[in-house]
Amino acid sequence: MSPEQEFDSYPRINIAIDGFSSCGKSTLAKSLAKTLHYRYLDTGAMYRAVGYFAIQHGLLDEEGLPNRSLLIQSLPSMQVGFSIDPATGASQVSLSGEVVEGNIRNLQVATLASKVSQIREVRDYVQVLQKQMAKEKGVVMDGRDIGTVVMPQAELKIFMTADPSVRAQRRQIELQLQGKELPIELVLEQQMARDFEDENRTEDPLRKAQDAVVLDNTFLSMEEQLTMALNWVKALPSNS
Ligand code: DC
Repeated sequence: MSPEQEFDSYPRINIAIDGFSSCGKSTLAKSLAKTLHYRYLDTGAMYRAVGYFAIQHGLLDEEGLPNRSLLIQSLPSMQVGFSIDPATGASQVSLSGEVVEGNIRNLQVATLASKVSQIREVRDYVQVLQKQMAKEKGVVMDGRDIGTVVMPQAELKIFMTADPSVRAQRRQIELQLQGKELPIELVLEQQMARDFEDENRTEDPLRKAQDAVVLDNTFLSMEEQLTMALNWVKALPSNS
């Protein structure tokens, strides 16, 4: 029996993955979803889509930061959604039905996503959608508040972490692949600033859920991480 067939006979569950940026959350979430035949939801992409909406609709102030009250007023018309790319099976975020996946993976949108994710009303709007998607089991979601706020009932919660210098090296390689050469000191400095914001913001700061298992992948290959996560799935009371 292939691993996929083995897991098809297990009760469907929800899996929450949280952690700092560049910890490999989305890579693990995607492989888990593929192996288990689950849906994958990248919640960071939703905050990025809100940031992109702010650019598209001129909702930025003179400093290029989101205008809080205009953004809040616009939420009812925003229509953040998800669809599945028929070619790859990957989920892709959309605004009013238009896929914006190709527009949200840049520094300007990342900075705006970080700002808009600190606004309570934006989080409420996005979390309603995320909680709806979690109602039908068989979802892997990654983010910062999934195990603590969005899916506190998830059967498996994973908190991912890795050595900061290893994370910075991974990020530097990612940037190089996008044609951007940054010294490691700068990458590390930016990473520390993002970590600080994630952990210290007022609204839903990054926390390990009490019942989450910790996956430190500093020295682990992708295959080893997937095996660990699948073993946790197998060890759930309903599967043992
Ligand atoms: O994971 P990412 O870099 O795509 O996330 C973009 C931003 O959204 C980042 O600043 C953290 C924030 N975020 C959040 O506040 N809550 C989540 N569940 C996911 C991301």
